[in-house]
Amino acid sequence: MYLEAGHAAQNVYLQAVSLNLATVVMAGFNPEEVKKALPIPEQEQPIYIMPLGKK
Ligand SMILES: Cc1cc2nc3c(=O)[nH]c(=O)nc-3n(C[C@H](O)[C@H](O)[C@H](O)COP(=O)(O)O)c2cc1C
Repeated sequence: MYLEAGHAAQNVYLQAVSLNLATVVMAGFNPEEVKKALPIPEQEQPIYIMPLGKK
């Protein structure tokens, strides 16, 4: 699961570069607070956040 998250994150980085956007990986967050803010199914846990934005 963690390996797959890393693979997906690498693809997001590559897409960000090709779209002239910026991103970083973030893992330092409270998963329960993230679940309050986003429509994440109860049985799923967020393990990585990648904000995307213009440079
Ligand atoms: C596994 C992992 C988890 C990370 N978690 C965070 C995080 O929670 N918050 C954060 O500010 N940076 C985190 N970083 C670092 C950012 O991805 C990024 O490298 C850092 O913000 C510096 O970005 P900059 O060089 O564009 O300033 C993490 C990096 C890795 C590899």
